[in-house]
Amino acid sequence: MSNGLEGIVAADTVLSHVDGNTGTIWVRGHTIDDLVRNHGYEGTVAIIWESFAGTGLTRAKIQSAFGAGRERAFAQMGDWLGAASKRPLLEGVRIALAALPENSAPADVVATLPVAIAALVRTREGQPPVRPDASLATAADFLRMLKGEPASESDIRGLDTYLTVVCENGLGNSSFAARVTVSTQASLASAVISAYCAFTGPLHGGAPGPVLDMLDEIKTSGDIDGWIANKLKDGGRLMGFGHRVFRIRDPRADMLRAAVAALNKDAGRLAFASEVEAKALAALARHKPGRPLKSNIEMNAALLLDAVGVPRDAFTQVFAVARSPGWIANALEQAKTGRMIRPASNYIGPKPET
Ligand code: ACO
Repeated sequence: MSNGLEGIVAADTVLSHVDGNTGTIWVRGHTIDDLVRNHGYEGTVAIIWESFAGTGLTRAKIQSAFGAGRERAFAQMGDWLGAASKRPLLEGVRIALAALPENSAPADVVATLPVAIAALVRTREGQPPVRPDASLATAADFLRMLKGEPASESDIRGLDTYLTVVCENGLGNSSFAARVTVSTQASLASAVISAYCAFTGPLHGGAPGPVLDMLDEIKTSGDIDGWIANKLKDGGRLMGFGHRVFRIRDPRADMLRAAVAALNKDAGRLAFASEVEAKALAALARHKPGRPLKSNIEMNAALLLDAVGVPRDAFTQVFAVARSPGWIANALEQAKTGRMIRPASNYIGPKPET
């Protein structure tokens, strides 16, 4: 057995299918491309939540439930804002989630995240939190609450693409954490807090911010190949590369790259990122010849979030906005089985002496 449990199938699911050898992702019978073009974030949530968090769900119904949820989260902000605003964003958002009532509805759990992120960013900038506009979709209202003014159509489209592309992706570490928690009949709120905590590590949802740090460090060094070689020589990992499942380039990376390019913002930075990516892939192929280490989504995700004005230390939290409906769908699907997850361990310690 590997300590990473790779290859172990731990759930039957109707939610998503990921084949890392062919670069295939299906979300309840839809391709990611179809979801981006025809359904958007709220439409995708309607698809993955159908028969788990309601029936007859539509994009409009989810948009309305998320809008009402943001209003409720804003009204409850006094429960957590004081404590949360004294902490780094990662901790502040954890505090906001921890303040959710045990019986919180799925849409209220998800809607807490954009409200908390925007309010915490604004509070630290000395600005008052902006009241949500329940009539807007999540991408538009989040950017509006974050910046205090309506975002451009292209930024809204770019962020909606991001939220849609990364909403659900097989049995990721965080989705598994949600399943483990809910399988004890713990609440959905507790399941999402478990998932969020698992998500924040740099090997999973914590990667996009460090990707930009890496690009900046490489730029400052003025020597792409030398920086990469030193990093690998020191046993470091190149952020934005490698994946437990994908053995070829993550198909979502190109969709996000196209979305960043469509924003038409910083072509120079995009070109630099492409150059770093090509050199990193070549270096990784030399470094681990037997192990295909390809681009994951994180470099393009980071460039996109940066381009639409999300602060770097909020990247993981915005990623959680996208992924939390997937955590909830996984938790509700697990709860339907009624079976507690309780694997076994292999004892390798000493035997008692007597
Ligand atoms: N840079 C350098 N070396 C790497 C990288 C990398 N990005 N990724 C893997 N390796 C090395 C490992 O250290 C390992 O070396 P070893 O055999 O000497 O111990 C070898 O390649 C094989 O590693 P894997 O088994 O393929 O990696 P694993 O499945 O454990 O980890 C992970 C996958 C965590 C994503 C890893 O590739 C990584 O750390 N990448 C950088 C962080 C990152 O981009 N995370 C975001 C992932 S996407 C997401 O979760 C949303």
